[in-house]
Amino acid sequence: MVEITRDVVIVGAGAAGLTAANELRKAGLSVAVLEARDRVGGRLWTDVIDGAMLEIGGQWVSPDQDALIETVAELGLETFSRYREGDSVYVGPDGAVHRFTGEMFPVAPETERVIAEVTSLLDQMVSEIDPDRPWEHPKAAEWDAITWDAWLREQTDDDEAVRNLAFATGSAMLTKPTHAFSLLQSLLMAASAGSYSNLVDADFILDKRVVGGLQQVPLLLAERLGDDVHLNQPVRTLEWGDGGVTVTTDDLTVRGRFAILAHAPVLYNRISFVPALPRRQHQLHQHLSMGFVIKVHAVYETPFWREKGLSGTAFSPYELSHEAYDNSNHGDERGTLVGFVSDQNADDLFTLSAEERKERILESLSHYYGEEAKNPVVYYESDWGSEEWTRGAYAASFDMGGLHRYGPDLREAVGPIHFACSDMAGAGYQHVDGAIRMGRLAASSIVEASRA
Ligand code: FDA
Repeated sequence: MVEITRDVVIVGAGAAGLTAANELRKAGLSVAVLEARDRVGGRLWTDVIDGAMLEIGGQWVSPDQDALIETVAELGLETFSRYREGDSVYVGPDGAVHRFTGEMFPVAPETERVIAEVTSLLDQMVSEIDPDRPWEHPKAAEWDAITWDAWLREQTDDDEAVRNLAFATGSAMLTKPTHAFSLLQSLLMAASAGSYSNLVDADFILDKRVVGGLQQVPLLLAERLGDDVHLNQPVRTLEWGDGGVTVTTDDLTVRGRFAILAHAPVLYNRISFVPALPRRQHQLHQHLSMGFVIKVHAVYETPFWREKGLSGTAFSPYELSHEAYDNSNHGDERGTLVGFVSDQNADDLFTLSAEERKERILESLSHYYGEEAKNPVVYYESDWGSEEWTRGAYAASFDMGGLHRYGPDLREAVGPIHFACSDMAGAGYQHVDGAIRMGRLAASSIVEASRA
C-alpha cells in the first residue's frame, strides 16, 4: 500500500474531476485524482471500433455551453458543424414518412397549433426558473408533484402533440419514461439549455463536434496533471473529519485536507464513508437515479442519405429509434448515422439477442433513410447501463418530488467532502458543460475554504 499526501483528493477522472484538479493546481494546491477505470474521461470516450472512430459517450457542443466552449478553445481543439443540409424526416402515428424543413414537425394544422401554444407556455415557465435553483420558484412544490406526462395531458387531449412535446425532455434528454419524472424536472432540463425551444432545436442543441473526438478534453486535462492522475484505483473507503480525509483504494492511501467526489451520484454508495454521511445525504442520494439510452452507431461506405437530399436528422415518438442524425466524422468519406433508443424501449431491446436487437434497430433506421440503412459496414451499440462505473445514460435525475425536496442540498459540501458532477449542474445539466461548471465550483469553494 503506497501512501501519499495532497491538499485535495479527487475521486473520478471525468470532465468534472479533471477540471477541478486543474483549477486547484492553478490556485497552488496539490491534488491526486483517483480513477476507477483504466482510462480517463468517464462518460466521454472516443474509440476506434472495427476501423471506425466512434463517440461512444458525449459528443455535441451547443452555443450556450460557455464553459465547455472555453475549455475546448483553451485546449486548442477544433470544432466542426453537424451536417444539416437537406430535409429532415418525421414518421407519424400511421407509419407514414414525411420530409420537412425547419423546427416544426409536419403534423396536422391543429396539432401544430397545440404544439406551438404549449411550447410558448413552456418557454414562459422556463424563463421564470433559475436553472441553478429551480426549487426556489414559487410553484416548485406544485410543479414537482405532477408528472411531465400528466401535465402535458392536462394541456391537450391531442396525443400526437403530447408525444412530440414530451420526448424533448423525456426520451431525448432525461431518458426516462415521461410518467417517471416531474414537470419541475422537465423545466430544469429545458432551463439548463436556456429555453424549451432551444432544447427542441436540433441545430442548436446538437450544433458542433470536436475534430478527433470530445474525449480529447479529459485526455488533455489529464496530461497537464501527469502523475497526479492514478488509473485503476476504485475508491473503497473515505474517512473524514475535522482533520481532513483519508481516501483508500486497493493500492493507495491518500491523505488530504479536502475530497471531491466527481462522479455520478448513484455511485456514492460504492464507497464506505467513515463516519457515515449525514442522514440528509443518505436520503437525498436514494432519490436520484440514472436514465437509460442506447446510442447506436451505424457506419456506411458513403453517406447515402445525402444523395436523397436528406440531412440525416430524423424524429419520431412512434419509432424504436426516436431520433437519429448524420454523425459522419470530420473529413471522413464514409457516412455515419447515430440513433438513440431510450428508457422502456432500451430495456425491452436488451431482452433480445444481439442479432435481433441489431435487426430491430436497423429496421427502425430504415424507416427514416430507406433500405440501405439496413447494411452498415460497422455497427455498434453504446451500452452505458452495463458500465460498472456509470450505470446508465446520460445522467441522473430526481424521482417525483425529489428535486424540490432535496435539490437545495445537492451541491452542499459535507465537512471536507465536496461534490461535482454534470448530474448536479444547473446550466449545462447532464452535459459536459455542466460537469466543467461543477468542477470549477467545487474547486473555488475549496480554494476559499483553504484560505479561511
Ligand atoms: P463522469 O461519469 O464522466 O466521470 C466520473 C468518473 O468517476 C468516471 O471516470 C468513473 O469511472 C469515476 N468513478 C466513479 N466511481 C469511482 C470510484 N469509486 N473511484 C474512482 N473513480 C470512480 N454531454 C454533452 O455535453 N453532449 C453530448 O452529446 C452528450 N451525449 C452523451 C451520450 C452518451 C451516450 C452519454 C453516456 C453521455 C452523454 N453526454 C453528453 C453527457 C456527458 O458525457 C456527461 O454529462 C459528462 O461527461 C459527465 O462528466 P462527469 O465528470 O460529471 O462524470
